[in-house]
Amino acid sequence: MTVTIVGSQFGDEGKGGAVDLYGEAADIVVRYQGGDNAGHTVVHEGEEYKLSLLPSGVVRGKECIIGNGCVVNPETLFDELDTLRERGLDPSVRVAERAHVIFPYHRVIDGIEEDDKDEKGDLTVGTTGRGIGPTYEDKAGRRGIRVGELLDSELLRSRLEYVVPQKRALVEDVFGVEAGSEFDVDRLFETYRDYGERLAEEGMTVDCGTYLQRRIDDGDEVMFEGAQGTLIDIDHGTYPYVTSSNPTAGAASVGSGLGPTVVGRGDVIGVVKAYLTRVGTGPLPTELGGVEGQTPGYGDGTADEEEEELATYIRDEGGEYGTVTGRPRRVGWLDMPILRHAARASGFTGIVVGHIDVLAGLDEVRVGHSYEVDGEEVTTVPPITEAWSRCTVNYRRFDGWSDVDWSAVARDGYEAIPENARTYLEYVQEELDTPIYAVGVGPGREDTVVLEDPFDGSTE
Ligand code: IMP
Repeated sequence: MTVTIVGSQFGDEGKGGAVDLYGEAADIVVRYQGGDNAGHTVVHEGEEYKLSLLPSGVVRGKECIIGNGCVVNPETLFDELDTLRERGLDPSVRVAERAHVIFPYHRVIDGIEEDDKDEKGDLTVGTTGRGIGPTYEDKAGRRGIRVGELLDSELLRSRLEYVVPQKRALVEDVFGVEAGSEFDVDRLFETYRDYGERLAEEGMTVDCGTYLQRRIDDGDEVMFEGAQGTLIDIDHGTYPYVTSSNPTAGAASVGSGLGPTVVGRGDVIGVVKAYLTRVGTGPLPTELGGVEGQTPGYGDGTADEEEEELATYIRDEGGEYGTVTGRPRRVGWLDMPILRHAARASGFTGIVVGHIDVLAGLDEVRVGHSYEVDGEEVTTVPPITEAWSRCTVNYRRFDGWSDVDWSAVARDGYEAIPENARTYLEYVQEELDTPIYAVGVGPGREDTVVLEDPFDGSTE
């Protein structure tokens, strides 16, 4: 069977921890979308690993696949593999031949477009600068280059000769920026042909869907590791402040080459952080305080000092700084309209709620229960982001819980969680009508109260 792990908020919910927790029983871990914009921190045997492209299951020695729905920067791929090898691991990673390749010009264009949006108003997305959007644009524009094409040097050269002059013209004629060596066909050809050779030598490419189906037919267990989160999904997120792929569960099918029935027969687990964080621009109705350069209108004198302090406290307690970029994350209260939207869009069969320890010690914990927009109460996310930015929040207030020995809680089980925290958790579970599979009470895999293991009792 399969288990799909999906971020239910803006990314950075702690999906790596859920993969780590449930991945033990999986034979293969597959990423199905995104690229090296993802940041997972995985703690294994006291060692911390920071990854941006490789599935986090790699640290645990799982066979890993980067699916056809991903965009792959070969430089990052080999850097991450070499670093893991230097640290004594023996990673097993293969890349779908149908996945698209991120080239240096994609990264340059990503930066130029952000600068242009910045100059022309408050339009920046706050991308990770990894060339993700421009690569997916080329895929949809049918001018992208796929991983499998790197292995055929003649084909690679002809593809580059077609696309690179267009990119050069875009940068020079539309944006008025001088194109550098990132737009030099000969140079690109040599570097990427070498990557192709290395992929071939190491036997790293795979026809993802065919291979996975065969493994499932043989009775193997597959875990789909989603990156980013529902609210930055290109279709279901706060467009245009989104990434360019679909972190929602439907993409586990499209991005791997397995049918939706295969994914749907398994579990789909939404990972929920007990509060909210967001990196980048765009609205955030339950935001506390704000972050310069990310929160719209930040510095206009309307900030509440107490809320700013609370946000800083939660940010520091939770280590809420970007894994990839180091940027401070924006912080807000848990937002139920977001979670209802995420649970529906991906069809969650269970949720994992983490970081409840970070909120310990607060007198009161709030949750955005619903919104008020244009005189109406709404319980899910408005489709048009402009309307979302006008929402005011109806809060539910919960008594806080004190800091306790969370390792003891993890050992003793659900009933050992402070009562007020359980009240909070049970509210979320009831509102989503989705059972809690696990509760994260600290950063390590052992700091988890497990109520349900989806791979248990598998009949497929
Ligand atoms: P891009 O994916 O680099 O194009 O960035 C688009 C938006 O998605 C920006 O707001 C990023 O901050 C956000 N984003 C991309 N990847 C992640 C992630 O792994 N965690 C959180 N936010 C992300």
